[in-house]
Amino acid sequence: MRLKSIRFLFIAMLLFSLLGCNKAQAPAAAADSQPHQWWQDAVFYELYPRSFADSNNNGIGDLNGITSKLDYLKELGVDAIWISPCFPSPQVDFGYDVSDYENIDPMYGTLADFDTLASEAKKRGIHIILDFVVNHTSDQHKWFLDSKSSKTSEHRDWYIWRDGKGPAEPPNNWTSTFGGSAWKFDPTTNQYYYHYFYAAQPDLNWRNPAVENAMLDVTRWWYKHGVSGFRLDAVDTLFEDPNLKDNPLVGGKNAFGDPIENEIYNKKLPEIHDVMKKLRSAADESNAVLIGETWTKNIDELKEYYGKHNDELQMPMDFLFTTVDKLSPAAFREQIASVNASGGWPVYVLGNHDKARSYNRYGDGKNNDAIAKLMAGFYLTLRGSPIMYYGEEIGMENNDPKRKEDVKDPIGITAWPKEKGRDGERTPMQWDGSANAGFSTAKPWLPVPPSYKTHNVADELKDPNSVLSFYKEVLKARHTNQALINGSYTPLNENDQNVLSYLRAYKDQAVLVALNMSGTEQKVNLGMSQHGFSSTKPLATSGKSSVNGDEVTLEPFGVFIGELSK
Ligand code: NOJ
Repeated sequence: MRLKSIRFLFIAMLLFSLLGCNKAQAPAAAADSQPHQWWQDAVFYELYPRSFADSNNNGIGDLNGITSKLDYLKELGVDAIWISPCFPSPQVDFGYDVSDYENIDPMYGTLADFDTLASEAKKRGIHIILDFVVNHTSDQHKWFLDSKSSKTSEHRDWYIWRDGKGPAEPPNNWTSTFGGSAWKFDPTTNQYYYHYFYAAQPDLNWRNPAVENAMLDVTRWWYKHGVSGFRLDAVDTLFEDPNLKDNPLVGGKNAFGDPIENEIYNKKLPEIHDVMKKLRSAADESNAVLIGETWTKNIDELKEYYGKHNDELQMPMDFLFTTVDKLSPAAFREQIASVNASGGWPVYVLGNHDKARSYNRYGDGKNNDAIAKLMAGFYLTLRGSPIMYYGEEIGMENNDPKRKEDVKDPIGITAWPKEKGRDGERTPMQWDGSANAGFSTAKPWLPVPPSYKTHNVADELKDPNSVLSFYKEVLKARHTNQALINGSYTPLNENDQNVLSYLRAYKDQAVLVALNMSGTEQKVNLGMSQHGFSSTKPLATSGKSSVNGDEVTLEPFGVFIGELSK
């Protein structure tokens, strides 16, 4: 007991001194006093069902494929999988156009397959998060088919219908984020309907209480099927100005040739928060988590999504690293400080199915494996929940189509070559070095990049220096070390342009993380001995990064993660 108090004192002194002598600008985040909810300790993993594992060898992944890979995910250190939409859908937007919220697309399997997946995942302690497309349905959903059938149909007001401004003139100037006017004329009733995304994705009218009830019921239905939460798609666009005011134009044109708008009348309207609260109440009944696709641009917007009383989304995301596309310690420090200051639980994401793979975004073309390890050593050791993207752990690279005729994602077809679409980040998971990377014996729906020969699960599992082995090491530390699970976050050496370093500390335990974001060797003095620490036990290091006394030596893009002791 006495020994523990002395250790604690040393760590407190270390923190105090490090903060003092480094003129810390970013606020430290205190250790967590409340016991964590399950999702705070969880490592999340997004998988794109079309591309993860193909059990019936038709070139498209499926639910049984996912079930067959649960042991791999468990072994890797994943606690929750977020499955991108797997519901019945015409697949115009690869599942983000849902035609039935309470079933599984036959291409992916059956509800019975889902139940098997859920129970097998549960046996392994893996939670399932589904992707709930809240903003719109497919134009083939029975609600929309009824809605468009007549002005007096039961579901007419479930979507947003308006007369044109004049002949062949849409109701206002809003454009779809996927190109062209956001209004489509429907000759059956001579009115336009609103679609922020493709015309095949009509926006639901959340001002109609019947819509709200139906959607809340969908969440409860899935909670009964063993789901532990939802990733809510396109939350920002749930509501529109009822008077349909024109958005101001800011000048210039986007990749689709549309004038660029300041979307003040069809994005981030305050009404969204009432809906978030209701979805949260339903989630709380099942101890579930809500992750939001929330493109917040500043701390105030982020705070709003957590809710004034922490009663909205537990995990709003995408504010952070996806917007820092370079290895900049200063930019990362700033982002971490912002999310810590928001008071909510931080969420860290490097990439997803809409963003070029992190391997290429951060990679310099020569040291991509080292940089992939650097980024893993970084975001998996922060205080917050990380959401990995399938394949990131093996250093999967982006594989953009080279020719327009090969593009599958419609936005890549419409805006080629300015916009190549999102196929590049959605290619099949690379399981081994055999044909089609072991994903399928049939031709996969998207081609695997040539690098599957070197970057695949089977080969990397055998190689202690692979990106995959490093991920496993870091995730193991994250799950077993109390300082990484519950610890505070204190930035160190805040003026260093090359090395990002910080301390995670909890009671009498501490972990030091030092990350060299430059292409040259770096030596940093972190002054541990002055504070009673004579040794630092490496938990995970990349390359020849090492510690000698107070000095940490980091090879180019090297990582040092070590446990401090006396
Ligand atoms: C965001 C999703 O992540 C993206 O893939 C999709 O195209 C749009 N929302 C529309 O649902």
